[in-house]
Amino acid sequence: MSSKPATDNAHNESAVWEQDRRHVLHPFQHFSSFNVDGSLVIQNGEGCYLSDDSGKRYFDAIGGMWCTNIGLGRQEMADAIAAQVTEMAYANPFVDMTNVPAATLAAKLAELAPGDLNHVLFSCGGSTANDLAYRIIRMYQGARGKPQKRHILSRLDSYHGCTYLAASIGGKPSDRVSEFDYITDWIHHLSSPDLYKAPKHIKSEADLCDYLVDEMEQKIIELGADNIAAFYAEPILGSGGVIVPPEGYNKRTWELCQKYDILYVADEVVTAFGRLGHWFVSKDVFDIQPDIITCAKGLSSGYLPLGATIFSDKIYDVMANDDDRFFAAGQTYAGHPVSCAAALKNIEIMEREKLFDNVNAVGPYFEEQLRTLLDLPNVGDVRGTKFMMCVVNVRNKETREFFPAEVNISKRISNHCEELGLIVRPIMDLNVMSPPLTMTRDDVDFVVATLRKAIELTMDDLEREGVLQT
Ligand SMILES: Cc1ncc(COP(=O)(O)O)c(C=O)c1O
Repeated sequence: MSSKPATDNAHNESAVWEQDRRHVLHPFQHFSSFNVDGSLVIQNGEGCYLSDDSGKRYFDAIGGMWCTNIGLGRQEMADAIAAQVTEMAYANPFVDMTNVPAATLAAKLAELAPGDLNHVLFSCGGSTANDLAYRIIRMYQGARGKPQKRHILSRLDSYHGCTYLAASIGGKPSDRVSEFDYITDWIHHLSSPDLYKAPKHIKSEADLCDYLVDEMEQKIIELGADNIAAFYAEPILGSGGVIVPPEGYNKRTWELCQKYDILYVADEVVTAFGRLGHWFVSKDVFDIQPDIITCAKGLSSGYLPLGATIFSDKIYDVMANDDDRFFAAGQTYAGHPVSCAAALKNIEIMEREKLFDNVNAVGPYFEEQLRTLLDLPNVGDVRGTKFMMCVVNVRNKETREFFPAEVNISKRISNHCEELGLIVRPIMDLNVMSPPLTMTRDDVDFVVATLRKAIELTMDDLEREGVLQT
């Protein structure tokens, strides 16, 4: 047995653990630590809780991968899924065939989405929802006689998925690796709306907002509005660091899109379906009317894979205007009846149990309690909204110096959390949380107390290893 690094999470090394380690390539797997640590083998899920294959229980504060919104283990989800499998597990969605759950869900999404977003292209997840949005965008721009409108604006620190296009639109520097190619000639990244990492001369949210809006307008002028097809933006940047843009930023950037005839794509893969207490946040929280909303994750609460690109009458009418054209894109599993049946039941549960009321009641308490961690010397920031939060770990709070990457600070903290029965997500310097919408105030108390303990244990480790001394 090899000697284990400080980041070892002491998993139960079962036969399944070994099979996984030998045969599975995980999304974003970090090879050297994986080769030693392997994976945490999750066997059971109920509500907000997971159990591993040794029976140890964990509170899942990341809700799977920002997705188990209604919580796991619901019998009525199993029943709805089973009933649809029995009725009809699959039907061809191409050209002119449909199925009952897909058509019903599309109508429901049109009802829930703001304004004239009445058309739905289904896919398998968030990456494909964003990727396919670009096909719609290009077809629209071409059909209205503006084929040169093909450039995309996006932001640093954004995440839009992992297809070639979605990864190119994404702007997380840490996700870029030298072996992969990215589209760089027609995708342009604006600055991240992150006040914490903003240049020193930017002192306030208002300054940052002015700076970013000005930067965006200059970029539009430089590229020429006639060349720009769309702006992709998460209302709150998720895996780029739970970055809540400055007050007014979303509205003002949307207004720029209106002014310069640029389509606005709100990537609500994380923020939709209750994470902030609303079906969609674009209109309800930020008062903007996107041309396209992409969603996935909470749409089916992770029970089955599903993505949706919801777009406007304005776009559809232009695309459909020329009757000799066809939409030359789409996937075998578009509008998969079983996934759509799961999504319909998921939405019904959210409505019936008024889960967003819980998010709106417990969310502010979660924010407030997590902020108590700011008294710890290495917690530089606590940010986010309601059920989408993160803790920023720093080596030096005054200078905002981060730990060297090799310290792997957030992974160390999440490992201690795991020992203590809590799952939080390590991303760069952050520990991220996006719990199921059913989380209670008692759960919040457990999460915050456990995270505090894990951070303290990590700092003790670093003290012993001499990493904390400057
Ligand atoms: C904002 C956002 N967009 C898109 C995606 C990609 O979704 P998927 O992993 O389902 O392809 C993610 C995934 O985390 C996301 O957070």
